[in-house]
Order: sequence, then structure tokens, then C-alpha cells
Amino acid sequence: MTNERVERLVSSFKEIFGGDPDVLVRAPGRVNLIGEHTDYNAGFVFPVAIDRDIMVAARRRDDGLVRVRSLDFGASVEFPLSDIQYDNDQKWSNYPRGVAHFLQEDSHSIYGMDAIITGNVPQAAGLSSSAAMEVATAMTFEKISGLDIDPAQMALLCQKAENKFVGVNCGIMDQFISRMGQKDHALLLDCRSLAFELVPLHFDTVKIVVCNTGVKRGLVDSEYNERRSECERGVTILEEFLPGIEALRDVELDDLLKYSSYIPEITEKRCRYVVKENIRVLESVEALEEGDLIKFGDLMNDSHIGLRDEYEVSCPELDAMVEIAWSMDGVIGSRMTGAGFGGCTVSLVVVDALQEFIDKINDEYPKCTGLKPEIYVCAAEDGAGTIEI
Ligand code: GLA
Repeated sequence: MTNERVERLVSSFKEIFGGDPDVLVRAPGRVNLIGEHTDYNAGFVFPVAIDRDIMVAARRRDDGLVRVRSLDFGASVEFPLSDIQYDNDQKWSNYPRGVAHFLQEDSHSIYGMDAIITGNVPQAAGLSSSAAMEVATAMTFEKISGLDIDPAQMALLCQKAENKFVGVNCGIMDQFISRMGQKDHALLLDCRSLAFELVPLHFDTVKIVVCNTGVKRGLVDSEYNERRSECERGVTILEEFLPGIEALRDVELDDLLKYSSYIPEITEKRCRYVVKENIRVLESVEALEEGDLIKFGDLMNDSHIGLRDEYEVSCPELDAMVEIAWSMDGVIGSRMTGAGFGGCTVSLVVVDALQEFIDKINDEYPKCTGLKPEIYVCAAEDGAGTIEI
């Protein structure tokens, strides 16, 4: 599969630009196992990089021009490094544009390039195709320009491109895991210090199954920003009682409960979810390290309940998908993943029950929602890297 995609990428490069590319780069999408909406609260997340990625084939240019062809959008753009503008028509091109802009702003001296991009990360599904595109193009500029960019700095730079150029106010999780993931591991990230631990999955008898509800995440931008503000509001109120706190990460559950009557109800619910989710992430990593998958699965389920009832970022389709999963014996845990309001669920499914799981989702989800699900059985893969030509 990968080889066919690489061959197609290289032959398209030859066809469109003539000659061979200098470099091939891939950067994966991600699925978050647990730790949702905690990254922008300086908390903990536990994602894996998946075996769906964005690939770039590129060759350096010496005239400072960047020419990019997207095979998936069937469109091309070109822009000079000296004058990078937001593109309203070819929105996908704002990822490479933003990355090139901030690489230069951070004083990296980069070359122009001819590049072809293609990917198989489902778009607008909550699997971070945008972060994959940012990291893939950042690494391509790094390689063709002979740079050596610290991986965490690259993730931060890609996040900056998404926040300030593309205009989406995301946290650091997606770019970080796309850059730093490791095969057969999940990554526990402290989103404040960016300290991380790669935790082996030992999932010989278990599969990570991602189910796409088919609901595109329409509301996500406004609701996402609103949740961020509610968390900040909570911190501002709690600061009066808990001097020195900077984020919900610093708030203990007991303290939150003690002062909850001072916080408006909705804000308090949001804060409660985040404080509890941070605890769940740390407990789930412990459970995994002890080989206690049942506990891990229970924590995933609790995470979904919190996202549904306290943080209120689920939707009927995500709930239906999760409930079908919960009703099955071979499912260890299931929850929505990503920002919410549509997109995907992630389930841990015992290998022996995998086919039954797939059949049941395909059969029951359309009956509940009128929508057709897409199911991706995923493997935990390496983060971004070059591909040997
Ligand atoms: C989106 C954002 C991430 C994170 C998740 C929710 O994927 O890009 O930074 O906030 O939502 O956990």
C-alpha cells in the first residue's frame, strides 16, 4: 500500500516537474486514546500516531519560489518565500504557506521547492490531517534546506502556523504526536513542559479501531474557542482562592469541589471535566504499564461520559457509535476522540471480536443515524520521517 502510494507520488513528480525529487517525507495523523481538551489547559494527553499519513515529494529550488501540487485536491499553487499571503481559494495551501512563513520568522533560512503532496488521513474527521500536513511540509523544508530543527520546536512552529496563519486556535497535541510518535507506542505528553514518555502498547491481542461517524465537525471552531474561554474563566475565578495557579492543570479536584459554588454552573462543569480528565490520563498510563487493559478501557469510557455530559462536545452520532461499541463483549473501551461535534470514535477491540465489531457497527450505526460509518483499523506508527527513495 505504502509502496504503491510512494510510486504514484514519485511518478506524479516526474510528470509534473520533470526529473526526480530530492526527498520524500511522511507525517502521520493521530488518534488520541485519552486526554481530550486537556492540551490547551497545560495538561496531559495520550495519543498515538497512526498508519495514515501525508506524504510529500520535493526538490529544492534556488530562486525562492515554492510550487506545490496537491494530488488529492487536484490543484496547484505557487508563492515566493519573500511574500507569503493567505490563500482564500486553495485553503489546503495555507498549511505549507504558514509553515514556510513561521520557519522564516524563526530565522530558519529555507529554500524554495517543487513539491507534490498526497495523503490518506481522512479529512475533517478529527484525525489531524492538518497537523500531518504542517509537519510533513515543515520536515520537507528542513530536509531540502539542510537544516536540523529540534523536533519539539518543529511541533511548536507547526502549531503556530495553525494558530496564527490558518487561524485555528488548537493546542500542541496533534503536531507533537505527528512529529514524535513511535511505532507500537502511545505518547504521554505533558503539554506544559513538553516532557514526554513513549509507552509501549503491547497490543498483540487488541486493535485500535477508529470509526468515523461521517459527521463533519461543523460547529467545532466556535465551540472549541468557547470551551477554551470557559476554562480560562474558571482559572480566573479560582485564582482568587488558589493563588499561583496558571491553568486547570494546577487545580486539584478537591479544591475545585470546595470552591465550585463560586463558579457559574456551566463553567464549573467544564472545569470539572478537565481536572478529572487529567487524572484519568495519568491513571490510564499507570493501568497500561501494569497491563490492566480493563481499567484502561473503563477510563476511556469515563472520558466519553465526561465529554458528553460535562464538557458537552459530543453529538448524538458519536454517542450512538460509542454505545454500540459499549454493548459488545470484545470491546475494552470506546470514546469520542479529537475536538468533538462529529468526527471519530476510538475503540480498543479484542482481535477475536474484531470482525463482529465491524459487522455490528456497519449494521447498527446506519439504523440509529441514517449515516454510513467508515471503519479504520489502525496501527501505532512512527512519527514524521523521510522515506528512502
Ligand atoms: C483538536 C485540537 C487539539 C486538541 C483536541 C481536543 O484536535 O487540535 O489541540 O485540543 O482538539 O483534545
